[in-house]
Amino acid sequence: MAQTTMNLARRIKRHVWAPVWDWFAVCPPGLEWLCAQELRGLGLEEVEPQEGGVAFRGKLEAGYRANLWLRSASRVLMRLADFRVRGWDDLLRQAARPRWEVFIAPGAPLRVQVSLKQSNLKHQGRIAEEVFDAVVRRLEALGLEPPRPAQGGEDDNLVQRLLVRGYGRRASLSLDTTGPHLHRRGYRLEGAQAPLRENLAAALLLFAGYQGQEPLVDPMCGSGTLAIEAALLARRLPPGGQRRFVFQRWPSLRVKTWEHLRRKAAEAALPRAPHPIWARDRHGPVLEAARRNAQRAGVEADLEMLRADFFKAPAPPGPGLVVINPPYGRRLGSVRQARELMVRLGRHLRRAYAGWRVAAVLYRPEWVGLLGLRGTKSLTVPHGGLRVTLVTGRLPAA
Ligand SMILES: C[S@@+](CC[C@H](N)C(=O)[O-])C[C@H]1O[C@@H](n2cnc3c(N)ncnc32)[C@H](O)[C@@H]1O
Repeated sequence: MAQTTMNLARRIKRHVWAPVWDWFAVCPPGLEWLCAQELRGLGLEEVEPQEGGVAFRGKLEAGYRANLWLRSASRVLMRLADFRVRGWDDLLRQAARPRWEVFIAPGAPLRVQVSLKQSNLKHQGRIAEEVFDAVVRRLEALGLEPPRPAQGGEDDNLVQRLLVRGYGRRASLSLDTTGPHLHRRGYRLEGAQAPLRENLAAALLLFAGYQGQEPLVDPMCGSGTLAIEAALLARRLPPGGQRRFVFQRWPSLRVKTWEHLRRKAAEAALPRAPHPIWARDRHGPVLEAARRNAQRAGVEADLEMLRADFFKAPAPPGPGLVVINPPYGRRLGSVRQARELMVRLGRHLRRAYAGWRVAAVLYRPEWVGLLGLRGTKSLTVPHGGLRVTLVTGRLPAA
């Protein structure tokens, strides 16, 4: 047994800690360039935007760093193999190669997810079974407890995902390093009506070039996502600083590296946001939920919260950045009302917030013009079954 443990430790050092790995940060389509910008800003190398995410390379630390710091991404994968597929044998051979015992803890719940796009491989169910069995065989041969199939409804924090992707004549095997989606930072336990995903909120702020160097107001803050993400950004706090990741369950976790990254992040964080961040909403209970979310995120003291109707309250001292995610309904009547709201919103912004910059989430790309912004930039991304347009620009000065 002592021999097996020593062998495992040696294998981990040689085969997990030493090599340079291929990583892939998955992000909403349309945000690849933004996510690539974030990765470069983190000092990561060979950053290459691809469809649905960004490839990069680096040692284990690179994957840890990406999980801790990426604001716009959804998850980080470690690529174990990318190979040509002529038939089943290629898949079986590749699935038997990785030293699964260094990644998969004994008895861990494992889910093999298969996606095929015009692939030489067929039969998703069979592929998943074969790959799962390859992992089981490897661990059993070493006298280790094999993984068990993850059940539906199983705690997402525990489940290890292994992804098989077949595309044309090639296929890849990747391990998820993240666990629950990266937008689940851990602070938003209370939602409002139609809350924005945390990674999309952060993406809007990054898209607008917000770095915490100007006042910011979210006049329709709901559960507070945009204001909280702004405070995290302004204070240089890592979005993943309060959550756990599935790589922390790997037998090859490099504890010192992970602790070092977290310690460095804590040392570099600012004690307070340098400029005011206002979070406003006209509904009192929603604002209270936002306050509790901000408290959980550790940024309550950075936010100035006020119950106020956007159309009645004066703008706070500025100029700065107005971030806004107005209400939207999917029914036809409510879509018409949402458009009317956008017209009013644009009018009020031009009157009360002259000279401010704006970053907004719109549910129709053709509504961009209703805001009357100058120097407009926009991009469209999927969100909760819809496509939303992120727009930014400046309101004319008075
Ligand atoms: C789509 S939600 C915002 C969701 C928010 N971004 C989040 O992530 O939770 C729109 C919010 O606008 C608020 N609201 C609607 N009309 C308003 C008004 N005239 N003044 C202030 N808030 C308003 C609603 O109470 C609701 O919380």
